[in-house]
Order: sequence, then C-alpha cells, then structure tokens
Amino acid sequence: MSESLKGKRVLVTAGAHGIGLAIARKFLASGADVHICDVNAQACQIARDMHPSLSASATDVSDEVQVLAMFEDLARKWGQLDALVNNAGVSGPTSRLEDTTLAAWQNTLDVNLTGAFLCSRSAVPLLRAAGGGSIVNISSVAGRLGFSLRSPYSASKFGLAGLTQTWAMELGPCGIRVNSVLPGVVSGDRVERVIAARAAAGGVSNDEMRDQLVEKVSLRRMTSPEDVANQVAFLCSDEGAMISGQSISVCGNVEHLG
Ligand SMILES: NC(=O)c1ccc[n+]([C@@H]2O[C@H](COP(=O)([O-])OP(=O)(O)OC[C@H]3O[C@@H](n4cnc5c(N)ncnc54)[C@H](O)[C@@H]3O)[C@@H](O)[C@H]2O)c1
Repeated sequence: MSESLKGKRVLVTAGAHGIGLAIARKFLASGADVHICDVNAQACQIARDMHPSLSASATDVSDEVQVLAMFEDLARKWGQLDALVNNAGVSGPTSRLEDTTLAAWQNTLDVNLTGAFLCSRSAVPLLRAAGGGSIVNISSVAGRLGFSLRSPYSASKFGLAGLTQTWAMELGPCGIRVNSVLPGVVSGDRVERVIAARAAAGGVSNDEMRDQLVEKVSLRRMTSPEDVANQVAFLCSDEGAMISGQSISVCGNVEHLG
C-alpha cells in the first residue's frame, strides 16, 4: 500500500488537528505530497512546524471564495490531485430538537455538508487531470444510526452517505472513486468535549458518560485517529481500486448511539 501512495498529491481538509492530522501524517509516511487546510491558521502553522514537508492554507471549507482560492493555488502548484479527504466537520449543538437554533443547524450543515460539496466540486477537474483518483468523506457512525440531541450533526452525516453514492455514480466513469469512512468514538479532544456536553445534558459525571459510550462499542474501546487514517489510506491506494460508493465503519462496531 505504501508504495502505491508514493508521490500522490493529497488534500486533507481540517488537517491541522485530530483525525485530519493523523490522516495527513499517514499519507506523508507513505511518501505522498500532502496539503492541509484548516480554518485555524495557528493550528496550520503548528502542523507545518511539526511536519515541514506539509503545505497548508488557512481555509474555511464552508466559504466558497476561500475554497476557490485554495484550489486555484493547488492548480498552480500541482495541476492535478490524486485524493481529496473531506475531513472537516464540527460537532454542532447538543440540544433537543425544540431547543436547536436555526443558526446552529445552519452552521453545522455549512461546514459538514456544504464544505464537502464545495471542496469536491473544485477537486473534480484536478482529479480528472490526474486520470482519476479518490474522494473520501469522513462521516460518522452518526451517519448510519440515529443520535439523540444531535439533529444537525446526524443530518449532515446521513447527507454525506447520499453524496457518496451519488458522486460515485457520476464520477466513476472517469476513474474517480468516492467512499465514506464512518469513525465511531475516536479518542481525542473532540470526544472529550462531546462527553462533557452529554454528561451535562444527562446529569452524570464525565467518567460515567465515557463508560456509557464505550459500552456501546462491541470491541469495548475507543477508535484511535490512526485506525481511521489507515482505512483512508487503504481506500486511496491501489489495494482499494475496486471500492467505490461505500460507507465503511471504522468503529469497533458501535451497536447504537442512543
Ligand atoms: N472525534 C470523533 O469521535 C469523531 C467521530 C466520528 C466522526 N468524526 C469526524 O471526523 C472529522 C474530524 O473530527 P476530529 O475529531 O478530528 O475534530 P477536531 O475537533 O479534533 O478537529 C477539527 C479540525 O477542524 C477544523 N475546522 C473546523 N471547522 C472548519 C472549517 N469550517 N474549515 C476548515 N477547518 C475547520 C478545526 O480548526 C480543527 O483543526 C469530523 O468530520 C468529525 O465529524 C469524529
């Protein structure tokens, strides 16, 4: 797998932190050229300091003008693209349907769904120029199971499943494969924030909430960012050459979310 990723040109959105950074590192270790974008310019700088071979841009994926500017830069720099990883996603609010504001709903869909649309739309000409390639959408098990108190997040991740199948059909004939990876409970800052929010909403301690989350996983442990990165790299490699239109869970089998 490592050999087939050597020299590939890869864009990872929200690649300065968390799962996105783990994905960027996996591609770098496989010999790919990697560009990350992130809305947090300081995080981009820190990622570049850690990995000087990374290139980075401070880009908000939900902003059409910024996305177009980033792809113009990539077109000038590479002219082609082999893989786009739509990783950018925000958690959105933890609130009952009747308490969810329109602003919170829209912000979540803007980043998680519109961001994937804007980046994928701009990536297509560059993927075509490379003779084909891969788009991987980072979804969530909340894209196949209902998730109470998380309406906008759930809607955005179920939406990615539709885009994955639709784009796989549209782009397959020109050799562009489109898949989704659905992480479960991934260790890191974000899950700790989600645990704190759900613990507060449910009136239990953070430790109790963490135990409750892990009990829903058949393998009884959290997924690591590297577990997710390995699957993304596989899907973009030659070994994944016949996989398209699929939503693949990397979650230790989350049985339900509640
Ligand atoms: N952490 C989990 O447990 C988990 C589980 C399932 C799915 N996911 C999905 O994995 C992806 C990454 O999650 P994570 O846990 O690494 O998140 P994170 O919060 O650790 O990091 C997210 C990164 O996204 C950047 N970002 C936020 N909004 C952005 C925007 N509009 N444009 C560009 N960058 C933006 C942030 O600056 C940050 O660097 C998300 O799509 C998330 O929904 C995460």
